Amino acid sequence: MDKKLWGGRFTKEQDDRFWKFQCSIGYDKELALYDIQGSMAHVKMLSKCGIIPRDNARSILKGLKRIQAQAQSGVFSIDKGAEDIHSAVYIALKADIGPAADYMHTARSRNDQVCLDMRMYVKDKACLLIDLVKGLQLALALSAKKYQDIIMPGLTHTQHAMPVLLAHQLLAYVEMLQRDKARLEAVYAIADEMPLGSCAMAGTSFKIDRQYAARLLGFSRISHNSIDAVSDRDFILDMLYAIILLFMHISRFCEDMILLSTEEFGLLNMPEQYCTGSSIMPQKKNPDALELLRGSSAQAYANLHSVMVLMKGLPLSYNRDMQLDKEPLFGSVRQAEDALIIAAGVIKGIKPAKGHGLRQGFGGDDCLYALDMAEYLVKKGLAFKQAHDIIGRIVACCIDSGIKMSCLPMEKYRQMSDKFDKDIYKIFCLKRSVASKISAGGTSPELVRGQIGKWLKRLSNRRA
Ligand code: ARG
Repeated sequence: MDKKLWGGRFTKEQDDRFWKFQCSIGYDKELALYDIQGSMAHVKMLSKCGIIPRDNARSILKGLKRIQAQAQSGVFSIDKGAEDIHSAVYIALKADIGPAADYMHTARSRNDQVCLDMRMYVKDKACLLIDLVKGLQLALALSAKKYQDIIMPGLTHTQHAMPVLLAHQLLAYVEMLQRDKARLEAVYAIADEMPLGSCAMAGTSFKIDRQYAARLLGFSRISHNSIDAVSDRDFILDMLYAIILLFMHISRFCEDMILLSTEEFGLLNMPEQYCTGSSIMPQKKNPDALELLRGSSAQAYANLHSVMVLMKGLPLSYNRDMQLDKEPLFGSVRQAEDALIIAAGVIKGIKPAKGHGLRQGFGGDDCLYALDMAEYLVKKGLAFKQAHDIIGRIVACCIDSGIKMSCLPMEKYRQMSDKFDKDIYKIFCLKRSVASKISAGGTSPELVRGQIGKWLKRLSNRRA
């Protein structure tokens, strides 16, 4: 049996190293189930349109079902001579049902077949990733609820900025992930276009029913230009980009968790299940899961870059270069799956560090209240700019003299502005500070509680 789908015009065997070099079966076997499902729909369509004999179609479908069952249970054995998944399915079918298998590839080329498989894969994985993102959002929202009272130093420029609720910061990640879901939904919608029937690049002389095949495969529409259909890999780039932003968010989350669990911050304790130790320093418990998640975003970035460069400047229509889109795509998807599950595990296991309550004083850094103090003066009638200047001078004087702002005597305050009263000392309270941030989207416990409730309700709804 000739195992190649294209052997007729060749009189010589391919060079050995080249043969191995061009084989994609090592990675496109990932597409097995999509390829089989696509072939089933194609054959049903060919039979319905009277293009292949019904008996042949029936026996092809029976054979494909058997192969499908094997692939589903992981026992589909790929023939050694198969260069790619399309050939592997054909070879297995031919071995099973004989010459009827040769009718399957009517009005189809691997060029449209591979596009179909890849679109089905991307649609499926977009749904899977959306579910996993939801799982991570839920883990974050539940932690926010559990640790509603913890106050942490909000940072800008990685320097103390203002007190905020830890829950508020955790919900920031829920917001980012919501945008990731929207992007993945858009990826699904873009990939949801059925290319089969475009054949090599120009269509076919057979009267095929592309809409019928699209319906069978759950596509909402068919492609309208056969040349574009076999040339287009935008949907793959869209997926890779959506994954990059997802990784960027996960990576920033990891960096935050690493920082907050340092001895210096002393706010959070990482779950041991996601840490490892040192082979020399017995005391170590390192946040490796978070570091590796942060690190794996590099690969996700590289994967998008690689396919972008791959596609740039390719003439229409199909080019074999495009085979190289698979490993970057599959790699990014697999990594994103792992990252989402692991990040959710980490967040579920995170606990406040022992003694974190004491550390909520943030080393007694009163400068965190500087804006609160400026707003205090504005409320007493000063223009913001004047208030800013006055508080700036007080900060400088306190740094100089080593006196904390909360300990600066009243006369000193009065020297700076006659607007100061005794009530200025009430400013130096973390709870009061966060409670005062009542503008929509702010960090006041009441608003944050509202946001937690909103998210938990939304995320328990299947269509969140
Ligand atoms: N392995 C190929 C790919 O991934 C399948 C299409 C091959 N088409 C061809 N004309 N050689 O792109």
